[in-house]
Amino acid sequence: MLFAPVQLGRLQLNHRVVMAPLTRMRAEQPGNVPGRLAVEYYGQRASAGGLIVSEATQIHPTGQGYPATPGLHTGEQVDGWRRVTDAVHAERGLIVAQLWHVGRISNPAFQPGGAAPVAPSAIRAAGKGFLPSGETAPYETPRALEIEEISRLVDAYRDGAKNALAAGFDGVEVHGANGYLPHQFLQRATNRRADAYGGSIENRARFVIDIVDAVAEVVGADRVGLRLSPLGKANDSGHDDELPVFRHLVIELATRGLAYLHLIEPRADGVGRDASDAGAPTAAAAFRPYWPGPLIAAGGFTADTAEDALASGEADAVAFGRLFIANPDLPARLAIGAPLNPYDRSTFYLGDHRGYTDYPTFNGTEKIA
Ligand code: FNR
Repeated sequence: MLFAPVQLGRLQLNHRVVMAPLTRMRAEQPGNVPGRLAVEYYGQRASAGGLIVSEATQIHPTGQGYPATPGLHTGEQVDGWRRVTDAVHAERGLIVAQLWHVGRISNPAFQPGGAAPVAPSAIRAAGKGFLPSGETAPYETPRALEIEEISRLVDAYRDGAKNALAAGFDGVEVHGANGYLPHQFLQRATNRRADAYGGSIENRARFVIDIVDAVAEVVGADRVGLRLSPLGKANDSGHDDELPVFRHLVIELATRGLAYLHLIEPRADGVGRDASDAGAPTAAAAFRPYWPGPLIAAGGFTADTAEDALASGEADAVAFGRLFIANPDLPARLAIGAPLNPYDRSTFYLGDHRGYTDYPTFNGTEKIA
């Protein structure tokens, strides 16, 4: 079934091998602008009627937490992304922009004026994060957002969606996963607010729903996807019993006519390492009963397990991350059962064309027409 067409809202796909969003930290400086290498990288991975989810893309200067991640809030960035979407469309592929705000998963060195990163509550993340140099340092305590700042951030997502359209994207995906700002609002462990955005399940889900509604006003609900990582542990997330808040969120959004829900399986954490809780029930199976719309599953899939997920009805499409890094022609390879290039983790982040645009295609195969 991987090679049967499927409709995700307004997105008409010829096959179900989706490219997962993959941060590669190679935006041009200054300005965090997707450059010539990004045009080549995405163009290589485009296939006719295939869907690419862009790497996470900050929608506001306070939304950055890693070096050289691209943004979608300046004219230069929109122009850079336009060249990327043109390259994907030249191959008759589709590409949506993953809209990102890292919240507390940042460092003052990335923040305007060197200020503290922002979050629902002033609760520091465990662990270390990146500095602009590429070195790492322990996270610092973020500043709790004022309630009026929250609506300004929702506006920033709305502007991000407008910029995505200006840049030629076919839609947007709200990054609600992996312990970043929207996920920080969902969880009790990171959200101790006493206002309309904290406390009850309904209140903790409000920020994500506000964002989804704001971007849907701009691009139409049928071009909006939402990515969530229920049961995942990336970036110091997943401490709560999260199922009730995710269930509420999914049920609430199920009537909105969104393009798709994109769920990361907990067996793969946010950076694609295999988590220790392999064998846990799949997120797709857990949420399928509440989500009648299109569902993309991601996390540790092979061609065979992807076929199983499609055949069982758990998922309508499957996103591949690491395999797409190493195999620019992944859909064509899967279609013929060709061998796959192994990926090199040491070149996932930062650096140049090596490990980015120099993985070879399978000799003699054509991209899927
Ligand atoms: C990721 N992942 C990720 N997820 C996301 O929502 N936005 C992002 O920008 C990134 N960036 C990213 C970079 C790199 C180098 C890796 C390996 C992973 C998670 C990714 O989309 C996917 O969910 C995981 O990689 C699991 O899928 P695979 O790799 O097992 O197919």
